[in-house]
Amino acid sequence: IVHILLALVLAYLVGAIPAAAWIARLKGVDIRTVGSGNSGATNVQRTLGWGPGLAVAFFDIAKGAVAVWLARQLGLLPEWAALVGIMAILGHNFSVFLGFRGGKGVATSFGTIIAIDPLVGACVFAMGVFTVSVTRYVSAGSLVGGAVAVVTAAALGRPLWELGLLLALCVLVVWQHRENIQRLQAGNERHIGKKVEAGR
Ligand code: G3P
Repeated sequence: IVHILLALVLAYLVGAIPAAAWIARLKGVDIRTVGSGNSGATNVQRTLGWGPGLAVAFFDIAKGAVAVWLARQLGLLPEWAALVGIMAILGHNFSVFLGFRGGKGVATSFGTIIAIDPLVGACVFAMGVFTVSVTRYVSAGSLVGGAVAVVTAAALGRPLWELGLLLALCVLVVWQHRENIQRLQAGNERHIGKKVEAGR
């Protein structure tokens, strides 16, 4: 039980590493004051361009994937490893390094999902990318991805713990996107790739 608790705390701390905020700060930008104000890859991309945006996406995906993978290497059962993944996502969304604020948990959730169930992860990726390419809204792709995770796992007859985990991730992603959902409904959500000026 001690090593499970240790893994959960470590996962939270790894997840809490605010790649978006720190990379932006290196470039002299306070990510919380530009674009959507979100500490995530999408906002870094629209503020600083594709290189930094992809670097943040990669790092944030790795936080979830590595946390789950390490938990499995430590001999934790898949259901416990899934909880470790959730802790990494909570770390990302409510980071101790950002005053318990953070991103929306899409990349870290995706990393967690690929590590737990690569097939579900592949479906989420395909449908998420498809939705973004059709709508030009990353937030729409994120919301569709969350729903696809739950539906795919249910269709594949995955165990209850996995369905519960994915449902929790999906609900969290929707909650974190509540402002995006309002903007989508109002028709003023930001499109992907639209550059914003830093420092406003
Ligand atoms: O992963 C976050 C994305 O879905 C939306 O980001 O910056 O447009 O709110 P943003």
